[in-house]
Amino acid sequence: MTAAPSASSSLLLRAARGEQVEQTPVWFMRQAGRSLPEYRALREGVPMLEACRRPELVAEITMQPVRRHGVDAAIFFSDIVVPVAAVGVDIDLVAGIGPVVADPFRTRADLDRLPELTPDDVPDITESVHLLVRELGPTPLIGFAGGPFTLASYLVEGGPSRHHARTKALMHGDPALWHDLCHRLAQLAGTFLKVQVEAGASAVQLFDSWAGALSRADYERFVLPHSRAALAAVEPLGVPRIHFGVGTGELLDLMGSAGTEVVGVDYRVSLADAVARTGGQYAVQGNLDPALLFAPWEPLAERVREIVAEGRKAPGHVFNLGHGVLPETDPDVITRVVELVHEVSART
Ligand code: CP3
Repeated sequence: MTAAPSASSSLLLRAARGEQVEQTPVWFMRQAGRSLPEYRALREGVPMLEACRRPELVAEITMQPVRRHGVDAAIFFSDIVVPVAAVGVDIDLVAGIGPVVADPFRTRADLDRLPELTPDDVPDITESVHLLVRELGPTPLIGFAGGPFTLASYLVEGGPSRHHARTKALMHGDPALWHDLCHRLAQLAGTFLKVQVEAGASAVQLFDSWAGALSRADYERFVLPHSRAALAAVEPLGVPRIHFGVGTGELLDLMGSAGTEVVGVDYRVSLADAVARTGGQYAVQGNLDPALLFAPWEPLAERVREIVAEGRKAPGHVFNLGHGVLPETDPDVITRVVELVHEVSART
């Protein structure tokens, strides 16, 4: 007798745990969003942060790419700034720009504006996840939160930043304040992850997207302890944890050591190098360059085949992009990539 299909026996969870899979699981960062006309229609006239707090809308937007592309996981539709806004920080998501903070974080007094997140601040998140796991059935839902460096950078800079100059100045100029800020952000991220898993998410991803801006020494001293704390919040719940950042080729082993089962790899480092750099200790996720989705089919397909082949040498492989789907991407190309990954990775 075979057990009924469940999220815990899904391709994604088995690959994340380093178990044998009959096919490489595939999902895409930012698979929900502006590349889909059905997303643009639903979002018409609804501000981003408001959309993230409406359970029916969240569930529908999360389901759209699952139905359309046949991906092996759903990623919860929300944003890394949702828990920050939920504790009262005046932050907005401006289309075409990203997070914008009304009063950037600069002094010790600003810590008072960042109280602890409690599950009662986000009851709608629990409700959204409940709706989703019911609808998804055996397809796993990935919950997520923003990593400490990325969240701190938005708060300190007041918005997106190329050089993270004020953030690094605070880190080195007032290490005690930096650690206090990151301590709070890790609590917030850890609780946000826990709320999602307790409501039924099957895996989590910590997005420390901009951590690649740091040297190894600075990452290890100023960020890693806090990422470790955020990821430790869900360790007792037993779900696979994915840890991702952009341009983090030099940090992969440290990011793995934060307490994760899967290391996210961007497109600058091959999966083979990523496995070598992490001593084969973790499953890997990645790493197609999102810009290649704009290339003609043959070179794109060739790259997909190469990534699948390289992923076979890893302890486990989850196919993904090296960063999020770009808004102008043709969604039909994404569907074709999903089909190709499944086809070329199928074990007979
Ligand atoms: O499908 C998914 O991946 C799920 C949803 C998701 C969003 N944001 C939705 C979103 C996830 C996982 C995020 C995380 C996030 N948010 C990160 C980490 C991932 C990464 O891309 O590195 C970061 C850095 C943010 C901050 C942020 N929020 C940015 C830079 C932007 C883009 C601004 C823009 O308009 O170009 C946002 C807004 C945002 N978050 C959108 C979506 C779908 C676009 C809003 C819209 O559709 O109007």
